[in-house]
Amino acid sequence: MNGSSARTQWASRLGFILAAAGSAIGLGNIWKFPYITGQNGGGAFVLVYLLCILLVGLPIMMAELHIGRHGQRDAVGCFAVLEGKPTRWRFIGWLGVSSSFLLLSFYAVVAGWSFDYVVQAASGAFQARSAEEINAVFAQLVSSPGQVVFWQGSFLVATAGIVLGGVRGGIERWSKILMPLLFLLLLLLFFRGMLSPGAKAGLEFMFRPDFSKLTPAALLDALGHAFFTLSLGAGTMITYGSYLDRQADLLSLSVRITLLDIMVALLAGLAIFPVVFAAGLEPGSGPGLVFQTIPIVFSAMPFGSVLAVLFFLLLSFAAMSSSISMLEVSVSYLVDEKGWRRGLATMVLGLAAFVIGLPSALSFNLLADVTPFFGQTFFDFANALVSSYLLPLGGFSVAVYAGWFWKGERLQDELSGGKIRPWLYPLWHFLVKYVAPAAVAVVLLNQMGWFTP
Ligand code: PHE
Repeated sequence: MNGSSARTQWASRLGFILAAAGSAIGLGNIWKFPYITGQNGGGAFVLVYLLCILLVGLPIMMAELHIGRHGQRDAVGCFAVLEGKPTRWRFIGWLGVSSSFLLLSFYAVVAGWSFDYVVQAASGAFQARSAEEINAVFAQLVSSPGQVVFWQGSFLVATAGIVLGGVRGGIERWSKILMPLLFLLLLLLFFRGMLSPGAKAGLEFMFRPDFSKLTPAALLDALGHAFFTLSLGAGTMITYGSYLDRQADLLSLSVRITLLDIMVALLAGLAIFPVVFAAGLEPGSGPGLVFQTIPIVFSAMPFGSVLAVLFFLLLSFAAMSSSISMLEVSVSYLVDEKGWRRGLATMVLGLAAFVIGLPSALSFNLLADVTPFFGQTFFDFANALVSSYLLPLGGFSVAVYAGWFWKGERLQDELSGGKIRPWLYPLWHFLVKYVAPAAVAVVLLNQMGWFTP
């Protein structure tokens, strides 16, 4: 099928920004960023993460949107359009399809926890509770296979439902309403955090760099998370870019998405770490962090239960606006390349993501002791494989393709959407051609021990 003539496009520029920002902003910002910051010792990690985003992530985001918009096809087909023939570069698309799919499988598990928390908050589970009691709520949840799998499945049904609605009807409409609301609620939590007794310790933890904490693994986490949080290397931005019109200004779009994404992550961190220190919790406690801290804040607030319900609803929505973008990558692949009907593709892939996600859902209970993957549970393994290896590899390949192999001239005028910015193309080209690939290579080799005697 040829998607170039009648391809749906975003209803408005704002709609696109919100949908792409919706893809970028998700569990990565609110769930993952705080807990890996905690595990990697704070300040120095945050600094490297910010550098990775600006020097590696942002230029690659521009490259992905650009590839997508130019090709007007799914993440695999784009490369064939760009090269004018079936080409080996399509492996970047296949890599993206596989990574976003594997990612979706375990992402749904965590998003399911958030669904569960909506219900728990509504039933008053977090009202006037101590930190220990709230901890116990989380422990009880993840240790119940039935409960976790139920919510994981519900989340995937909801995701598939929105993807069925198509680009405009589903994705765009909801993003417009709920993303700004999430932002407001995070602001509230941020102010609450800044007024709490843990504020100073929280700020210091996040912004005072201690470079002795920067292990090779921390560097890889920071780099990998830059890809994860911006939805790069997964075919997502290529696919979303393919619904963009030719006039769109890719630089300003990418900059806005990136800034929003950074802001939300920092706000989440600044909401969470003061609580961690005020309540004497462990910053490095892992994937449960947001679920163990945020309810503590609400538990002591007037209307806390209502706000907690709202918070976990919005977190679930943020997760959904990301998960739909993961599913959309493989759905549009099957529709554009294999001629599947959209509805069928969505249902089959949604079901497959559920089945493949089961071992992740059970990693905290029935399969907690099954760790054949380098001593990790299936969840930890899938999580690390996607963020630390598959996404950086996908982003690396995009950078190499865009920097070295794609013919330059056409790009030059397209990047700015007609605006005159003589500095933009050379700067962007330098970053994608040299800086981004080198950064990924160095961090990966460093992790493999190449630079240590
Ligand atoms: N960026 C999303 C988040 O931070 C995750 C994501 C990664 C979505 C890759 C799509 C593709 O939660």
